[in-house]
Parts: sequence; C-alpha cells; structure tokens
Amino acid sequence: MFDKLNSRPADSLLALIKAFQADDRPGKIDLGVGVYRDTMGRTPVMRAVKAAEQFLLETQDSKKYLGPEGDLQFVRLLQPIIFGKSPKFTQRLVGIQTPGGSGALRLGAELIQADPSAKVLLGTPSWPNHAPIFSSARLPVKEYAFVDLMSQQVKFESVVDALSSAREGDVVLLHGCCHNPTGIDFTMEQWRRITELLVTHRLVPFIDLAYQGLGDGLEQDAAPTRMILDVVDEALIAYSCDKNFGLYRERVGALYVMTRNVDDIGKVESNMAALARVNWSMPPDHGAAIVRTILESEEMSAMWRAELEEMCLRVNGNRAALAAASPDLAFISRQRGLFSNLSMSRETAVALRMSHGIYMADSGRVNLAGMQPADADAIVAALRAEGCLKSPTVA
Ligand SMILES: Cc1ncc(COP(=O)(O)O)c(C=O)c1O
Repeated sequence: MFDKLNSRPADSLLALIKAFQADDRPGKIDLGVGVYRDTMGRTPVMRAVKAAEQFLLETQDSKKYLGPEGDLQFVRLLQPIIFGKSPKFTQRLVGIQTPGGSGALRLGAELIQADPSAKVLLGTPSWPNHAPIFSSARLPVKEYAFVDLMSQQVKFESVVDALSSAREGDVVLLHGCCHNPTGIDFTMEQWRRITELLVTHRLVPFIDLAYQGLGDGLEQDAAPTRMILDVVDEALIAYSCDKNFGLYRERVGALYVMTRNVDDIGKVESNMAALARVNWSMPPDHGAAIVRTILESEEMSAMWRAELEEMCLRVNGNRAALAAASPDLAFISRQRGLFSNLSMSRETAVALRMSHGIYMADSGRVNLAGMQPADADAIVAALRAEGCLKSPTVA
C-alpha cells in the first residue's frame, strides 16, 4: 500500500530554521521564523498565560471530556473581543472551539460543502496553507491576483473583478488584518467597497482572523470584520489565539458562523459538532482553558492586553526602523502584522543568507519580529549589496 505514495515536499521554513541554528556568525539575523520574537530573540510565554497556567494548576480538578464543541465559555468570552460588545447579529452567531485557526478553516471548509456548487475565491499570494485546506475539503478554489509585489500595492481592480464575477453563494476568503505573507491590508475605503460587493453579489465572506491585536490594536484590527458582519447575510470567521496569546503549540482557535436566520443556528451548531467529532473528536483543552481563565479575570485580561500592545508596538517599531534606514523600504512602515514580502528571486534570498547571514523565506517573506531596530542598517546594507535597493544610503 505505502509503496504507492509519492513523497511530498518538506516545509522549506523548517530547513531554514535548522540552517540558522547551525550558522555561527555573530551578526546573523533570522527574519524567516513564523512566530513573534521579543527583544531577546525569544518567543516568550506571555505573563498572563503563565498566571493563568498557575491558576489552572491549582484549581483544575478534572480532565474529563468536554465534548466536540470544546470549551464554550472560551468561545463566548472571545466574542466581544472579536465582534464588539453588543453587535446586532449576536443572535445569528454560533461558535465552536477548534484546534487553532487551521482547524477552524478546515471545519469551515467542510461546512461550505453544504452548497455543492460553491467555490472559494482566494486572493494570491496568501498563507500557503489556505488553498490546500480548501482543496483537501474538495472545494474548488478560484485564485485571483491580490497584490502586486513590485509596487507593494493591492491590485484592487483585480479584487473587484473577482468579486463582481463570482456567483451568488460563492465564498470569499479574506484576511481580517495583518495579511500573511505580505502585510498589505485593504484600506477602510477598500473594505467598504468589498463589503458592498459582498452584499450586492450575495457572496459569503470567510474571514481569517489570525493576528488580531498585532496590527494596530485589538479594536482597529477587528473593524473590517465588524463592518462586514453588520450587513451581510451569512459569514464564517476562523479565529486563532495562537499568535495574540503566544500559544502556538497549544493549538487554540474557534470557528464562528453567522447564519441568515436565527432558526438556522441549531442546524449549523449540530453540523459543526458532528464535523468536529469525525475530524478530531474533541479539541485540546489546555490552551483554550488558559484563554478562558485570562478573559474571566480582569487583572489577567489587563496584563494580556498590555503585553499584546507591547508586542504590536515592537513590530511596528521595527517596521519604522527599516523604513527610516532606506526610502526604498518606506512601504514596510505602512504594512501591518508580522510579515512583509521584499519580492526577490530565490537566488537573492539564498545570497542574503550565505553572504550576509540574513535569513528569510525563499519567497522574500520577512518576519519583522525577528529583528531589533539596531539591525536595520545591516539589513539595508545587505539588501543594497545584493541589488535589492535603488536609492543611496540615508546619512
Ligand atoms: C493567515 C493565517 N491563518 C491561519 C493560520 C493558522 O493559525 P494556527 O496556528 O492557529 O492554526 C495562520 C498561521 O500561521 C495564518 O498565518
């Protein structure tokens, strides 16, 4: 049986991590990692998470099963953070805990199979796992160009064309904030136009919100999602707590579905639970219990919000430092989230690694949390040496 399998390519970022670890040059810089890093280069356990873990250690008295829906108090407490205090669509919203944002995307994809003619519109480039998740759930994926990396601009006409020519009931995957892998988010004006198109063509937004709080803050990062949900009939939201709570390996996420009618809630809820049951039976508890514990406590919530803000400021500070070091990188300070894409050939990314000790994905994707502001000049010098920048050095 297994001799019939073909090998699949390994994740190239894993090879990058190993190569960085093996590099003993003192000035090496790792912009390839996919996770937040602090000023010491660590991906720390957040202070509020430690406090919640301590609390759970002392008070948790059972590990019995919770069921396929997971921790529903976790799902409820996240709602005001994502959707606002009392949104008018609350009655039409149902949620379930999932193993990370990835689990939410997978479960959402399987729910979409309810409409056998629905296809998923995906702007490219996107997070490399998006298309495979939808395809493996046997959904047709229609890709369209979302950005032009040469100009670092949204190709808005292409977005408008894709949405205008979609069929009623088609699903539109949207990055709620902090686009991965480009950092290029729509302006509020563009979001308004997208919202109009969703309504006019009766399309179903599937919003992937994996970095709330790491762009401009919790409220601002949720604004496009809230604006869309206020007016569309139906929507799906895949949420990840793995970045904004620093819980990566704990696999913490939720899928929310907004239905057209309150009467459909029960049906959707039962389908979500049944699909979870056959996929992972029940989601892992620990990470969601941590988030619930934090959100149940005013003190821990304040601690979490303050640390998340520090993380956000640090990333945006690094963006500003790079932009200040070269006018050719000014676009980086206008982008948001952990990532930007410097648009280069694979050969250039390899040369930056081999000759300068600056590591990034072969696609040119950089993680702005992997550097310190003081690294900006070295990064700019290396980019200039490899012919990536045009303007002269800033004095
Ligand atoms: C855009 C985007 N969506 C979803 C995810 C999945 O997040 P999780 O690790 O919670 O599964 C990621 C993770 O990198 C992501 O970048």
